[in-house]
Formats: sequence, C-alpha cells, structure tokens
Amino acid sequence: MTTPSRTTVGIVGGGPAGLLLARLLHRAGADCVVLEARNRSYVEERQRAGILEQGTVDALRACGAAERLDREGLVHNGIELRWNRRSHRVDFPSLTGGRRVWVYAQTEVVKDLIALSTADGAPLLFDAQVTAVTGADTDRPVIHYTHEGTARTLACDYIVGCDGFHGVARKAIPEGQLHTFERVYPYSWFGILADVPPSCDELIYAHSPRGFALHSMRSPTVSRLYLQVPNGTDPASWSDQEIWDELETRFAVDGGWKLARGPITQRAVLPMRSFVTEPMRWGRVLLAGDAAHIVPPTGAKGLNLAASDVIVLARAFAHWTATGTTAALDAYSNTCLQRVWRAQHFSSFMTTTLHTAPDQSPFETRLQLAQLDRVAASPHAAAELAENYVGLPVE
Ligand code: FAD
Ligand code: DHB
Repeated sequence: MTTPSRTTVGIVGGGPAGLLLARLLHRAGADCVVLEARNRSYVEERQRAGILEQGTVDALRACGAAERLDREGLVHNGIELRWNRRSHRVDFPSLTGGRRVWVYAQTEVVKDLIALSTADGAPLLFDAQVTAVTGADTDRPVIHYTHEGTARTLACDYIVGCDGFHGVARKAIPEGQLHTFERVYPYSWFGILADVPPSCDELIYAHSPRGFALHSMRSPTVSRLYLQVPNGTDPASWSDQEIWDELETRFAVDGGWKLARGPITQRAVLPMRSFVTEPMRWGRVLLAGDAAHIVPPTGAKGLNLAASDVIVLARAFAHWTATGTTAALDAYSNTCLQRVWRAQHFSSFMTTTLHTAPDQSPFETRLQLAQLDRVAASPHAAAELAENYVGLPVE
C-alpha cells in the first residue's frame, strides 16, 4: 500500500477498536487510514479477551464481519458461579429478555476484520509506529509516524486514538484538561491456554478460600483458564501439574465434578487495573477503547467497551458527514462515559466479590459470600448481574 499523507479520519492503533471503527467508516463511505505499530501476525495472535456481548455481535453482523463468528462462535446462555463448594447457574435469556453472549476470541475478531480490510483495499498500515499526535486544537490535526525507517506525517480532519493503554494519542490532550481515575488491584490473573476440551458447557467463575478461578474456552477442543495469583508472579515458576492442581482445588464442588487436564500451550500473568480518562475527546482528537479506559477482566467488559465506543463514534461521524454539524461528535465523550462508568462498576463488583485480597479480613469474606448467596436466592439480584454481563444496549 502507498503511504497517504492526508485523510478524513486518522486512526492510531489497529486493535479491535481501530479495526472495527475503520470497518464501520469504510462501509459508510468515509475516508480513513489505520496506522498500527506492530506487524500483522503479532496483532492477530495476541491472546486476550474471549466473550462478545450481544451488542458487539450485532455490530459485527451489521458491518458484514460476522460470517465466521456465526459459523464458529459458541452461543452461551448463562454462566456458573461457584462458592462454598456449591454452584449456581445464572440464566441470561430468562433474566434479560432473551439476550446472550458469544464465545469467540479477540484474536479471531481481529483476524476477520483485517481480512475484510485487506480485501476491500481499506488503508491499514502495519509496522507504522505513531510517535506523536499534534494540533488537537486546530482544524487540521496531524499524526507523526515512522514506517520502513522513514518519518512521515498524516494530516487529518479528525484523529481517533485507538492505541491502547500505553498509546501516544492520549498525550495530545493537554495535561490540565485531562482527568484520570485509577485503581490498581493487589492481585493478577495467571491465564493459560490448553489443548483440552472444556470441562464445562458454560463459563465457571469460582470464589474459593485460595482465591478466584475462571474456566473459559476458545473452542470445543481448546480451554482457557485463569487463576488469581499475587502481583509479580513469574508464570514460569509454576509447573503444569501445580497449575492443574490449583485449578482443581479452586473449582471443587460437592457432587463430583472433574477438571480435564491437557498440554498447556500458552501462559501469561496479567496485572489488573481500573482506569478512566475524562474527557474522551479534546478538540479534534477522540479516544476509544483501552486508550481511554481499562477495566479488570472479571466480567469480560474490555473488548466490548472498545466496540461500543467505536459504534457510537461511527454514528457520530456519519451524522457529521450527513449534516455538517458536530453535535454528535461533541456529545461522544459524555455518551460513552455513562456506559464506561457502568462497566467500571460492574467489573469492579465482579472482581471484588470473587477475588480474595491479600489483607482480606474474615468479615469481608463473609460479605462476599452473602452477596453470592443473594444472587442465588433472588431473581432480582441475578438479573442485575445478567443484564450487566450480557451488556447494556448501546446508546
Ligand atoms: P488494544 O487491543 O490494546 O489495541 C491497541 C493497538 O494499538 C495495538 O494493536 C497496538 O499495537 C497499537 N498501538 C499502540 N501504540 C501505538 C502507536 N504508538 N502507534 C501505532 N499503533 C499503536 N478483556 C477481556 O474482556 N477479557 C480478557 O481476558 C482480557 N485479557 C486481556 C489481556 C491483556 C494482556 C490485555 C492487555 C487486555 C486484556 N483484555 C481482556 C482487555 C481487552 O483485550 C481490551 O479491552 C481490548 O484489546 C481493547 O481493544 P483496543 O483496540 O482498545 O486496544
Ligand atoms: C474470558 C476472559 C474474561 O475476562 C472473562 O470474564 C471471561 C472469559 C476469556 O478470555 O475467555
């Protein structure tokens, strides 16, 4: 692809947020360019989220990016919660008016969007490291980047920072204009991928005296599992047998359930953080996805929030193109932040209800168990969890 020097919407970052935004804009006939620092296979193989909300799936379908998802994605109608050696299933459709979620890995969403983009000839540049975004408060903001060893610029009408938590676009907003809110958790997730059929039909979120565990999956033959571990844990310091033994202990329930073991093919430790930037727009620079907010992964909101940001943003750009007015773009930050804070609350609720903090008192543990008992006893409490898990409607 030739390197353009001018576009309508310049997108920094080709993760799920940047790629979906480009797809939505391209379908609407808007001119855009995506600049991604890494190469294609790195972006496609990066192991991350696995659950898609109904609204994310609807958006992928509407832009013609769900053909493989509809073939290979696993529809899940509920989750299982485990605590005190017992289990309780939360049924989504009956509690949410028919909504559900899909197990379809972020790696696959990214592969599908890249394939479509390549087929359409939509401008997507890999190995394009953005070094700065300037002129946010002018009519012609500029992306500065290097590609194949050459420094280049891309002049834009608008720039969207979809470059994740460590990206550079956020720096285009002057420090005095930016408010950040943050909580770092005193534990991490040890995630593994294993070549073994899942030992469950639906995801299991387990509270245990030894800490949290999650059983997820990638396909009928590949399992994805997570263990709460202390911050700073070296993933190489656990043997495969130690990992499986610990998972088995944390998932234990009365009535004899068995965890199948298999070869572990990937392992990584992920720190956990809640983070919000306000506002999500300054001048002609807008932030979307992890560039603007991070949630702890319990509850699977990160990727879905990134998707809902760019759905709102694509509609705002369509409104601007059709009417020439910036009202929807002006409202972008406030519209998204409402949903972002709801998801922050839910992710924090799921995290603090299911994990055991290093300094947690027996009193706090009793509160967690009382909360889980409440979800099991009350359809209202279960519905609150289910509605948030399947995702609230995109504005
Ligand atoms: P990203 O996916 O981070 O994409 C940003 C892109 O920008 C990247 O491709 C990056 O290479 C590119 N980029 C960065 N800087 C530059 C630059 N200077 N120039 C050009 N390009 C740049 N969520 C869940 O729901 N469940 C999970 O299990 C889960 N696991 C996770 C594990 C990890 C290690 C991480 C980091 C996140 C995880 N998340 C999970 C969160 C979820 O994956 C993110 O919310 C989602 O990836 C957000 O998409 P994004 O496009 O906003 O950001
Ligand atoms: C997965 C990740 C999550 O954070 C979650 O809550 C459920 C599933 C996953 O990677 O499959």
